[in-house]
Amino acid sequence: MIELKGITKTYFLGGQRVEALSSVDLRIGKGEFVSIMGPSGSGKSTLMNIIGCLDRPTSGAYTLNGIRVEEMDDDGLAAVRNRNIGFVFQSFNLLAKQTALENVELPLLYAGVEGAARMAAEALREVGLENRMGHRPNELSGGQKQRVAIARAIVMQPPIILCDEPTGNLDSRTGAEVMELFRDLHGKGSTLVVVTHDNEIAAHSGRVITIKDGRVLSEA
Ligand SMILES: Nc1ncnc2c1ncn2[C@@H]1O[C@H](COP(=O)(O)OP(=O)(O)OP(=O)(O)O)[C@@H](O)[C@H]1O
Ligand SMILES: [Mg+2]
Repeated sequence: MIELKGITKTYFLGGQRVEALSSVDLRIGKGEFVSIMGPSGSGKSTLMNIIGCLDRPTSGAYTLNGIRVEEMDDDGLAAVRNRNIGFVFQSFNLLAKQTALENVELPLLYAGVEGAARMAAEALREVGLENRMGHRPNELSGGQKQRVAIARAIVMQPPIILCDEPTGNLDSRTGAEVMELFRDLHGKGSTLVVVTHDNEIAAHSGRVITIKDGRVLSEA
């Protein structure tokens, strides 16, 4: 489902060259639950951005569901992303002025799907927020905000869900609730890739990929 071959990402900033990823080879199969661990600056977010089609590699080949992603233009990438990938970030990335329901509706509206309000409400119900649909992000707790973000990630029923430190801003109990939701999603067949420093999450995943200095160190 996800296949990276010789993926390199080089940033040039103020005359300085940073090789964030160096010839990364990685395969992630349908229905896997993988965690990615490694020190700060090791390239985890860079890798997630490439897997998630938010960014293109400098070199190497990326095939997603049979699609050669590295050859696509921006519109093509956006379309692949919208259909295949749900994102959950550490800082939630919700729109502050929109209600929970409106935030979850966004990917559906972008895709031109009919019945957006009903589907968004159903996704919020799935994450246990049926009684918070009209709340804006500043009227929700951290764990509730992350659940809204998870509802937004799953509302298009994407085959792949990518999470970049989803419990990084949550206390351990709230983090455990979010972890439960991930286990449910995995149980329903989603492919989950989670960047995390959280040993609980790593322990529940099927495979831990460790990266350091832009290279895959080990797969346990
Ligand atoms: N847009 C950018 N321009 C220049 N350098 C960048 C850019 N994004 C990331 N880098 C550099 O690439 C390297 C990898 O960064 P990345 O964000 O992938 O690390 P990370 O493993 O996610 O770290 P953390 O655990 O702190 O989130 C770092 O050295 C970083 O400074
Ligand atoms: Mg990061």
